[in-house]
Amino acid sequence: MLVKVESVLTKAEVAQCRSVLEGTQWVDGKITAGAQSAIAKHNLQVPEDAPQARALGEIVLRALGRSQGFNSAAVPFRVFPPLFNRYDVGMKFGAHVDNAIRFIAGPNIRVRTDLSATLFLSEPEDYDGGELVIEDTYGTQSVKFAAGDMVLYPATSLHRVEEITRGSRWASFFWIQSMVKDDGGRTLLYQLDQSIIKTRAELGDKHEAVLGLTAVYHNLLRKWAEV
Ligand code: NI
Repeated sequence: MLVKVESVLTKAEVAQCRSVLEGTQWVDGKITAGAQSAIAKHNLQVPEDAPQARALGEIVLRALGRSQGFNSAAVPFRVFPPLFNRYDVGMKFGAHVDNAIRFIAGPNIRVRTDLSATLFLSEPEDYDGGELVIEDTYGTQSVKFAAGDMVLYPATSLHRVEEITRGSRWASFFWIQSMVKDDGGRTLLYQLDQSIIKTRAELGDKHEAVLGLTAVYHNLLRKWAEV
């Protein structure tokens, strides 16, 4: 399932990220691509070990920690340290699927990429082209969100970034290993959680139906979670 998570970063945090990125070194994005996707990849990235990438990554990770939408949709176990990319005029990333396993170099930890995330750092009106096109179970979806908003999608999906024809598209991207590996199960938990939030607002926390549904949510999570 493809999920939009709104306002992961505040506009002030977006501005802070952009101001740091303006002063950083950008290199060819092929550095983090597999052999096959490197052929399709034409963009720029901040090197993984650049201090700016680490500092901005901390801002993104903190924002994810407080995002109810992210935690509900991803049920995160591990998050790969966020990376940062940009597409200028003429740049694009052809259709590809992301690597299944990523290594975090320092602590030498493996991350199974259950979910891919793109967190937008440019406003849609500041560039033309640059749509993230995802081939989801329910057909092809084209994504271009406001700065600070994020899209989460199954990392099993074929996806591409359309060529930029005006301006520049900046984003943070990363992967999540979920406690619930199966996309179908994770989607059901997300839908249940969203319905519980609405039911709580209508009936209050003490209502028998709210208690019952909340118990079902936690017992399903207990059944399916790998930690
Ligand atoms: Ni990708």
